This record gives sequence, C-alpha cells and structure tokens, in this order.
Amino acid sequence: MTKLFEPGKIGDLTLANRLVRSATAEYMADAAGRPEPPMVEMYEALARGGVGLIVTGHAFVHRSGRRHIKMTGVHDDDLIPSLEALTKAVHAQGGKVMMQINHGGRRCTEDVINQEPLAPSPVPHTKGGPRPRELNETQIRELIGAYGRAAGRAKAAGFDGVQLHGAHGYLIGQFNSPATNWRKDGWGGSVARRLRFLEEVAAAVRDEVGGDYPLLIKLGIQDFVRDGMTLDDGVEIVRHLEDWELDAVEISGGLDSQNVRKDILRPDEEAYFLPQARKARETTDLPLILVGGLRSQSVMERILEEGTADFISLCRPLIREPDLPLRFQEGQDKASCISCNRCWPPPGEYGVKCRAS
Ligand SMILES: Cc1cc2nc3c(=O)[nH]c(=O)nc-3n(C[C@H](O)[C@H](O)[C@H](O)COP(=O)(O)O)c2cc1C
Repeated sequence: MTKLFEPGKIGDLTLANRLVRSATAEYMADAAGRPEPPMVEMYEALARGGVGLIVTGHAFVHRSGRRHIKMTGVHDDDLIPSLEALTKAVHAQGGKVMMQINHGGRRCTEDVINQEPLAPSPVPHTKGGPRPRELNETQIRELIGAYGRAAGRAKAAGFDGVQLHGAHGYLIGQFNSPATNWRKDGWGGSVARRLRFLEEVAAAVRDEVGGDYPLLIKLGIQDFVRDGMTLDDGVEIVRHLEDWELDAVEISGGLDSQNVRKDILRPDEEAYFLPQARKARETTDLPLILVGGLRSQSVMERILEEGTADFISLCRPLIREPDLPLRFQEGQDKASCISCNRCWPPPGEYGVKCRAS
C-alpha cells in the first residue's frame, strides 16, 4: 500500500487516508448563510470520491465578517439544522468533514456587510481602496467570542472538527502580519502581541468545544509582500501551536492571492509551499498538512515519505475531479486540473465549479 492511502490520525480522529480537501469557498449558501441543496450534493460527491478529510469553505463567524454573498454562515444558532444536513450527508457516505471558520476583516466590503469593514488597523486591502475601521478593545473581545461560539455551533451540527482560517490575509492573518497590524496596544507592536488575537481565539474555541475536539489551523506562514510576515515570523507561530492546543497545521501562505498559483503543469512547479513546510516540520511534531499545487501522486508520495507532511491537501483538483482519490487508487497518476483559476465564479455567477474545457 502506498503511504497516501494509509490511515492517518489528527488528535483522536482516524482518517481513512492522507488526502484532505482543502477549504474551498462554495458560493452556494442562501441569503441567511444556509447551505443550499447543490452544496450538500457537492459534499456528498466529495465523500463518495474517497478523500480522507473534507474541510468546508470558510464560514463567517460574525455578521461583520462575511467576505462575499453566497458565503456560508456559522454566526447564528438558526443555521445549525441546515449545517447538520450537510454533515449527515457526508457521514452517510462514510466521509469526515470539518468546518473552516473565518472573519474577513478588511477583506469584507460594505455592500455585503452593510457596515464599514473592521480590521486591526486602518490599512486598505487594495491600493487607494476604502480604509477599514480600526477595531476597539470591546469589538476585539466580541469577535474572539464569536469564533468560540461558531466552533460550538459547528460541533453541535456534527462536524468532525474545526479549522481556524489563519491564512490568506483574513482577520487572524491581519493581526499576525506587521503589514496590516500597526497597533501599539496589547494587540500589536511585537510578534507576541500580534499573535495574541490568534492565541485568544484558539483559547475561546477550546473553552467552547472541550479538550478532545479536533482543532486545526490553516496558517499563512509567510506573506510574500513588502513589510509583511517573514518565514521566521511564521515559524514562530508554528512553535506555539501545540501549547495553544491546536491538533494540526495546514501550511499555506500569501497575504493576498499569492496562495492560488496558476499554471501548475510540471512536477517541479508542484508543492510550492514545500520549502516553508520543511521549516515548519523542523519546529513542530504536530500533524502537518501541505497545500498548494499538489497534482501528481509521485510528488505527494515523496513528500509523505520524506516526512515533511503527514497529509496532502488539494483544492482545485477536487473541484474538477471530486473522485480523484478513487482514480488515484485505480492507477491515474496525476490530477487533470490545469490550475487556470476559472473555478472562481465570474461576476454575476455563483457556485464553485470547474470551468476549464
Ligand atoms: C475557488 C477557490 C476557493 C477557495 N476558498 C478557500 C477558502 O474558503 N479557504 C481557504 O483557506 N482557502 C481557500 N482557497 C485556497 C485553497 O484552499 C488552496 O489553498 C489553494 O487553492 C492552493 O491549493 P490547490 O493548488 O490544490 O488549488 C480557495 C481556492 C479556490 C481556487
């Protein structure tokens, strides 16, 4: 048996193999944030396709954190029954599913949230774009509590765990990064103070879900922007994760969209966060999940064999081929995804899907 199809463990949870579906925004929820039937069907198909663990697209923990319309919500108890329909559908196919929870911070827009976007500091997301409002102490506390309550709802809805979205320049990433956190109070000014938001979010979630419930983080380990977080800063975060009672870390990077690289066609273009993951591996014994341009079984197998990662995470390939794990087992060597990024719905369209020919 290949390593890719050996069972793996995260906390006390056993997963059938080492393939993870990386969080992928669905753009398939209704106005209240409830998953609609096509979204449940998409998750059923993924579970049938044999992936060891599914992570949902980012779900907003607070009204002020909805990144885009059609985004799934986990900010209100009323959502629990429709979320439960999703987890039941996945479990009925023998799958495991965790929810990624998020707040968009400065990446939110007033047309979606009907209020000024909130952020650690008033640094616009786009050059010349609107300045977000700086969070005050009360609002920071409220949002930390919102992450905790959202995780409690995910657990109540039957999810097998929760993943904090700590990557791609959303609220946690905005606190972590010196490019977006200019505060000089208890929430910024030194690496330790910038990381305090994440530390307190993790603690609020643990308080809510208890000690045994799987808690993961997708971590932006390096920003790749001027004055942003360096790899050394990112490794410093990794160093703390076990103390903060996280059960696994998925390594990603990029403060903006640098995490979804285009045109991954050759094996040497795959696994574009491997150097960063190797640094993380030197720093932590937590299960490590690697995402970013993984396409060929042989590349995945090599990374698992060398011990850098324990799990391999895929986003775009599973949009195109939700049954890729089964296809791999039947001998297909490589995902047919061409990394063209047309899976994102164009303006006026909704629903993530492969739009490549
Ligand atoms: C359509 C689309 C939606 C995405 N949504 C999310 C998301 O909700 N949360 C997240 O952490 N990453 C999200 N990502 C990033 C992916 O999870 C992944 O990190 C990235 O695409 C690189 O992996 P890949 O080469 O396997 O696609 C998204 C990517 C795409 C293409």
